[in-house]
Amino acid sequence: MRSSDNAVSESLSIDKLKYPDLPSIESKYVGLLRSKHANKLFELIDGVGSPLHCVFPQQFSENVLQLTAVLHKHDLQGKIYFAKKANKARCFVKACKQLEIGIDVASKQELAITLSEAISGSDISVSGPEKSIEFVSLSVACGAQIAVDSIEELKKVLHLFTGQEQASVAPNPMPRILLRFKPGSDKKSRFGMAHNQLVEALELLRPYRDKVKLLGFSFHLSGYSIYSRVEAAVDLVKWVGVARDLGFSQCNQINLGGGLPVKYTSTDDWMSFKRTLMAQHFHQNHVFVHDFYPYGNELNAVSALDKLLSSSVHPGISLSQLLRRNDIKLALEPGRALLDQAGVSVFGIQGVKLIDQQYRYWVATVTGTSFSLSEQWFGSEFLPSPWLLKSSSYSDHQVSANAELFPTAIAGASCLEYDMVSWRKIPFPIKPAVDDCLIYPNTAGYQMDSNESTFHSLPQIPKVAMWFDENKVRWQLDAM
Ligand SMILES: Cc1ncc(COP(=O)(O)O)c(C=O)c1O
Repeated sequence: MRSSDNAVSESLSIDKLKYPDLPSIESKYVGLLRSKHANKLFELIDGVGSPLHCVFPQQFSENVLQLTAVLHKHDLQGKIYFAKKANKARCFVKACKQLEIGIDVASKQELAITLSEAISGSDISVSGPEKSIEFVSLSVACGAQIAVDSIEELKKVLHLFTGQEQASVAPNPMPRILLRFKPGSDKKSRFGMAHNQLVEALELLRPYRDKVKLLGFSFHLSGYSIYSRVEAAVDLVKWVGVARDLGFSQCNQINLGGGLPVKYTSTDDWMSFKRTLMAQHFHQNHVFVHDFYPYGNELNAVSALDKLLSSSVHPGISLSQLLRRNDIKLALEPGRALLDQAGVSVFGIQGVKLIDQQYRYWVATVTGTSFSLSEQWFGSEFLPSPWLLKSSSYSDHQVSANAELFPTAIAGASCLEYDMVSWRKIPFPIKPAVDDCLIYPNTAGYQMDSNESTFHSLPQIPKVAMWFDENKVRWQLDAM
């Protein structure tokens, strides 16, 4: 996408067509927040600070119910574990407890937090690579199920019985494990075990059949391919058969991990945005190392899960039929999908600067840094357009009479040239100004806290949990 500066100057213009917009899907709760409770946002920014992450547990619950309905539609015994890593807010853990779903944890600290919310070990699934012996011990002690990532990790589980091999009574609680498979479509991954390693793992486990419960097999794939997931699921069903033949009679679960897609924009908007995208649309003609998230996915999580379970695996047999025939329970670990529309990030604007006199575009500096919108730190950018919320001093007559757009990139308030919240020059219909707010949409999944930092001695960014009814919004500071 990069081109020389001269080329940029020649082609740059303030013509609005040169700056494509990518309108974000507005959910019911964000609609209420913008239309009825905008003052509350300004109050919160004033009192709690900027940026501010607002999270919506009601939306989270609705997402859980929608995915659960797909499992019911397919008449499957299944369990959803929320992948906690996708957002640290406590309110989501509390919602999991209320909804009686499980939680997937990937660190000892996540496990400790989850237990502190009185979630029982039987509702916890432990993932993550090469877990420490302490993490494994705590997981076993609380009765959580552990997705074992490697032979070495399996030895850590077995090591818990050193000196007890001859014991006639099984340890209490018995370790409950799954073996994590490395699907053929993801051969280069550092996670999970390939076929030959699974054979070795089962041999290692065999003498411990009455001391370790092998519940089943798991995988997690990056990317959103339904086909690769179906293929890997069929492999797992075969592995369940192999394990049962070896005498692991309690083996009855496959865990497909996460990776259900989220739709941030309409597919049409996304396609036309991508078609017209040029380096000149970004401040300094910025080039990204990684591709962008597919913001305008055709499928959302519900339709993707339905498609996956309906996929044909043998002539006339769907994946869900295969699972039912083999009496296999399905576990899922969605993170991003359960957080779809479950939060926004609000940044107060502290200054706006015209960057290029001739080819007029601006940079608005917000209070906060791009660490609070994590995508930037993965060599990519969070592209759905933020909404501009004008401060109370704004009046309609300031709208440009000739419908001029105001292409504005968004910067963090640090001393780093690279601290850009949006490199993209977003074509605002009204000029952003000091004390306005920007509402970045749908940021609860991974954007809020995976890269948070106290750089420049800035405070940790607070989260505010919000609940809506028709006329009121109730809020609470969320303890992370
Ligand atoms: C093992 C495992 N499970 C679940 C997830 C959640 O994935 P997603 O947020 O795409 O649903 C991840 C994400 O990295 C993961 O590594």
